[in-house]
Amino acid sequence: MALPYREAPSTTQYLLIYMFYKTTSSKQTKKFAGFLAKEILDSDGRVRIAGAAWRRRAIRMPKNALILALSGNLGSGKTTFVQGFLRAAGIRKKITSPTFVLIKNYKIQTENYKRAYHVDCYRIKKSKELLGSGLKEILNNPENTVLIEWPERIKKILPKDSIWIKFKHGEKENKRILKFKQ
Ligand SMILES: Nc1ncnc2c1ncn2[C@@H]1O[C@H](COP(=O)(O)OP(=O)(O)OP(=O)(O)O)[C@@H](O)[C@H]1O
Ligand SMILES: [Mg+2]
Repeated sequence: MALPYREAPSTTQYLLIYMFYKTTSSKQTKKFAGFLAKEILDSDGRVRIAGAAWRRRAIRMPKNALILALSGNLGSGKTTFVQGFLRAAGIRKKITSPTFVLIKNYKIQTENYKRAYHVDCYRIKKSKELLGSGLKEILNNPENTVLIEWPERIKKILPKDSIWIKFKHGEKENKRILKFKQ
């Protein structure tokens, strides 16, 4: 598929080397998230992503969940991204943000992952508030993929290999910039 900003990459490696993408509509953000989901969930993308993002480290098998830390201001497109991602992972029901329930849980059937979690930490002030929520166990299980909004609120408990994506508003109403942190 054509990517929103640059030439379509042939591998995930290119995807991360490019480091940032611009989208011009929520539809495009969803499409991009869906592309990424396919790369990660259905192939050995997990290993390739880890290898690309942390080239100086040896490629390794995951010891914890695949975590996408989605950071950015209100309305910058984090939930929109999650909707595209989970739709591509085969979730058919309506995907809404877990602002009040904190964690939503989806069963997915992909090569590498069995469950997807959508976490919204907007209401969390400190990681401590999460004691008893089960989040730590969720983050520790390599069969999970976890998408987190407002991840900086719980940065302390996030594994080092979490993939951080920063969402920013562009210069026009429907533009957004998605930047991978390396
Ligand atoms: N290029 C774009 N990508 C994503 N969303 C866009 C884009 N252009 C416009 N939008 C709109 O911006 C809004 C993004 O809302 P969304 O709920 O995804 O933000 P959020 O980052 O999750 O915010 P919050 O921090 O409140 O949870 C939606 O109304 C969406 O339609
Ligand atoms: Mg949101």
